[in-house]
Amino acid sequence: MGKVAITTKFFREEVERLRKAGHTVVVHEGAPLGKPELIAFAQDAEALIVLLSNRIDAEVFSSLPKLKIVANLGVGVDNIDVAAATRHGVFVTNAPEVLTEATADLAWALLLAAARRIVEADQDLRREGFPGWTFLPKHMGVDVYGKTIGIVGFGRIGQAVAKRAKGFGMTVLYHARTRKPKVEEELGARFVPLPELLRESDFVVLCVPLTPETHHLIGKNELSLMKREAILVNVARGPVVDEEALVWALKEGKILGAGLDVFEREPEVHPELLTLRNVVLTPHIGSATWATRRRMAALAVDNVLAALRGERPPTLVNPEVWPKVMPAT
Ligand code: NAP
Ligand code: GLV
Repeated sequence: MGKVAITTKFFREEVERLRKAGHTVVVHEGAPLGKPELIAFAQDAEALIVLLSNRIDAEVFSSLPKLKIVANLGVGVDNIDVAAATRHGVFVTNAPEVLTEATADLAWALLLAAARRIVEADQDLRREGFPGWTFLPKHMGVDVYGKTIGIVGFGRIGQAVAKRAKGFGMTVLYHARTRKPKVEEELGARFVPLPELLRESDFVVLCVPLTPETHHLIGKNELSLMKREAILVNVARGPVVDEEALVWALKEGKILGAGLDVFEREPEVHPELLTLRNVVLTPHIGSATWATRRRMAALAVDNVLAALRGERPPTLVNPEVWPKVMPAT
């Protein structure tokens, strides 16, 4: 039976499931581990369950020769050098599907909060008291119902965002690498090139993975194409947006506002974003609901148990590693 190293505080019942299967489990409950500490913590581990903030690169794989699987507690795997994992014959797994609806909900929470200036209004009410009902109050917002939403990245989360948009009577535009005729029909969504989406949308929601192609997909040029009264929502990854350019656009009134769950240099947040009133900020909590996090933990454990039995893990990211000769532990 193998050693399983978990780099974060975890649900007790999931740790028990691993122990009942005969594995030794170590759990790190403190601040996210840096690379040397992670390597020391996971020595001799056959399975690693990791956070998005753990950078798992070639050095980690070389330093942990017994490793069979890295189970990521998130769907995006930009924190893992998947090619290096494959070279070392290590499975990488992620958490698709189980967090789609929670993340789409958060995208909508940010969209609505930015459009209706909820956070500003709440802060001002607490600080200054209820100002009385006035006809043209300080917190005038913009309509959402019946407007145009442009979704960049139209996979699981992008489509879940689009489904919600139907309830708001919106025109749905999308951009992805490939067209999706079936979904277009189901959701009444229209595929457009990115510049057209940016020009036509009142709300632009980013739902792409972070890859070399999507790094700074939204920069000064793209922000300049957006309507002055448009709002940008990012629930994808911080580096998909050039944060310096976004600060410029928000300060210069090139766009009306933004809702951001992710940041270019997490855990650092651009200091100027913290001073701007036309942006709503959340600390990467897209999937952070109790039920969703339980499902993510259970899926990571399912993946580890399968790998350590010598079976194919259910949500394998690098199928090239399967099948391979790997004795069960
Ligand atoms: P998914 O189902 O794989 O969808 C990704 C979409 O992005 C696909 O439609 C894909 O196009 C599109 N795409 C990829 N590269 C592109 C490019 N260069 N240009 C345009 N479109 C591109 O993934 P998902 O489950 O929806 O998750 C998406 C991302 O959301 C994750 O990778 C993660 O980074 C982020 N996320 C964040 C949170 C959070 O807490 N904020 C939570 C969950 C996920 P094709 O369909 O043509 O392949
Ligand atoms: C969260 O950001 C994820 O990729 O699941």
